[in-house]
Amino acid sequence: RDMGTPASKSDTMVTLTVDGFEVTVPAGTSVMRASNEAGIAIPKLCATDSIEAFGSCRLCMVEIEGRRGTPASCTTPVSEGMVVQTQSTKLKKLRRGVMELYISDHPLDCLTCAANGDCELQDMAGAVGLRDVRYDAKANHFEPRNTSGEVNPDYIPKDDSNPYFTYDPAKCIACSRCVRACEEVQGTFALTIEGRGWDSRVSAGMAGDDFLSSDCVSCGACVQACPTATLQEKSVIELGTPERSVLTTCAYCGVGCT
Ligand code: FES
Repeated sequence: RDMGTPASKSDTMVTLTVDGFEVTVPAGTSVMRASNEAGIAIPKLCATDSIEAFGSCRLCMVEIEGRRGTPASCTTPVSEGMVVQTQSTKLKKLRRGVMELYISDHPLDCLTCAANGDCELQDMAGAVGLRDVRYDAKANHFEPRNTSGEVNPDYIPKDDSNPYFTYDPAKCIACSRCVRACEEVQGTFALTIEGRGWDSRVSAGMAGDDFLSSDCVSCGACVQACPTATLQEKSVIELGTPERSVLTTCAYCGVGCT
């Protein structure tokens, strides 16, 4: 199970309370990881336990007694005696609001998407209880034309240049997991986030480069790290959406004993 952020190597132990449960973890552990240690999963999109936390998606906010605001649990280290709330009414409302904004700029093609059933955005929308999106998608990145039929200046076409995977900016949530995986797992530094706010997007190399002409070595670390179908293996797309899936726990058969 993904613990949210990498483990701390400290020998000093710290005890805190998460939703009323006491947990003791090494100093330097994130609140998110400590919460997972206590058996409490906090919704998240940009954090994983294999790359350093970045704090960009803001889905993992928590409340900490004595502190103002709602800090991101993935980038907040634990401290002795800390009292954390992860499931208050306020937090649930804030998380739904964040998720609503993500979904308002995301194609709603789940049923035909190759990542259907294996998409963290989809999972988290369910986890935070999102049912409706109030925002009109007049301005978005995923339609080549707007609702009046005019060319959408914000539309960024798919990059199909790499022989092994595709990059579909329309599905990107700019969580930067691919960028950090490229740096930390592969050490290649082929990817970056260019632009700011609404215009921010993952870019391979210099402006105008595509994946094939960039420094990308096709290691697949970015594809592995992507929480949506933005970076998708071509072989998976060709296979299409599975009609059913089997959870397999060993390599010897497809029965799926658990
Ligand atoms: Fe913490 Fe994204 S998981 S900000």
